[in-house]
Amino acid sequence: MTTPQHPEDFLSSMRLRSAREEGVFWVDDQRLGVFEPEAARRVSAVNWQRYVMHDRLVDMVRRRRSPEMRWSRIRAAWMTQLHTLATAEQHGLLIERMQRVLDARTGQDTDLTMLTQDVALRSLLPVALGGLTGAEEDLVRRDLEMKLARLVSPAPGGVLHHLRHLAVQIRAGLVVRRVLRQRAGGRRGREADLADPFVDLLPELGMDRALDVVTTVLTAIGGPPGTAAASVLYEFVRQPEWRRRLEAELSAVDPVEFRTAPATAAPVTHRFVKEVLRMWSPPLLLVRRSTFGFDLGKTRLEPGQWYLLSPHLIHRDERVWKQPDVFDPDRFLPGAPHGPADRTCYVPFGWAPKKCIGANIAVVQLMALCHLLCTRYRLTVDHPEAVTMALRFAPVPENFRGRLTLR
Ligand code: HEM
Repeated sequence: MTTPQHPEDFLSSMRLRSAREEGVFWVDDQRLGVFEPEAARRVSAVNWQRYVMHDRLVDMVRRRRSPEMRWSRIRAAWMTQLHTLATAEQHGLLIERMQRVLDARTGQDTDLTMLTQDVALRSLLPVALGGLTGAEEDLVRRDLEMKLARLVSPAPGGVLHHLRHLAVQIRAGLVVRRVLRQRAGGRRGREADLADPFVDLLPELGMDRALDVVTTVLTAIGGPPGTAAASVLYEFVRQPEWRRRLEAELSAVDPVEFRTAPATAAPVTHRFVKEVLRMWSPPLLLVRRSTFGFDLGKTRLEPGQWYLLSPHLIHRDERVWKQPDVFDPDRFLPGAPHGPADRTCYVPFGWAPKKCIGANIAVVQLMALCHLLCTRYRLTVDHPEAVTMALRFAPVPENFRGRLTLR
């Protein structure tokens, strides 16, 4: 069996198949699709238990043996840092950065998908790796933008483009190494960001693995937050009734309140964002390799085989959700008949123990974007009927041109 060339075809063919079959099936000769909620939860939970970060290739080249580093320790370091970052001041700064990017573009005719990507990336970069010089920041951002362009573009660039990206990637990696080294040597100030805990862990972790850890966060902020923000704008334009409800709610709310209890501070907006993340979950597919053997009913996943997970397919499965293709945030009201049957059915941030560490910040950021759209800017879209949602590495609105003006 062959895999269709375009992710769009790939996904629609899988949706057809998953609708007919069991939710767990071989997508092609090599990859098992695990699209049934409970099976996805179980495989993730078992597969990553005691997961250790290896440095095998570098160890082999350098003829050494690095100390073991459990992934749970990396995650614990991130979570502790995120806890210290969850202050009103830090959230205020995040919103200020979003506003600065948007203010600079008001009145301009612009590609709104690219604009939201820029807003998300520029506002989140200091959370991942702060204190960069202008030139360092430009390089790291360029690397992430080039990665994203490759994922979003229907036509991958030529050899020259790949080589150019490789050069940028290497230079961005050198920036990260330099920042960590200089922080460790006291030649650069420590920052309250997600890279900083690994400065203290450098002697155990080594620079290569520390770079991998920082790159994991940079890659994570370079894609899903921006496409999710574009999807918020997309539904904001398509749902005038919900837009009015958001405007009514948000005119009297301070967005810094989203930090502690978002669902209480702005329940309508919180439901709206949850529904956007259900319908348009990025990324569409997670490709994983199994470490253990799994008995999955009619089939088995052996150690070393590949499997696919997809929040998107679970969120659009008719066996799991009633009318999954209808946008209705009220399905998240307590006891709603068309709501999630249980917690395994709503997984926009993936599965424990690899679940997204930035889920809270992500929701606050998307709610803050709604707040800005309802209180500070007016959004005009040139041809709303021409805007479509393309399924690339994530759902990405296309032909989405318009402008923001100050209210
Ligand atoms: C709407 C925005 C976001 C979405 C939809 C999203 C979604 C996801 C998903 C589906 C995963 C994979 C989970 C799995 O493998 O089961 C993930 C992992 C991750 N995310 Fe996010 N994410 C978002 C924002 C963020 C932000 C803002 C940060 C950082 C501040 C972040 C940091 C990470 C990291 C570090 C991982 C890897 C975790 C690990 O490997 O243990 N994400 N995210």
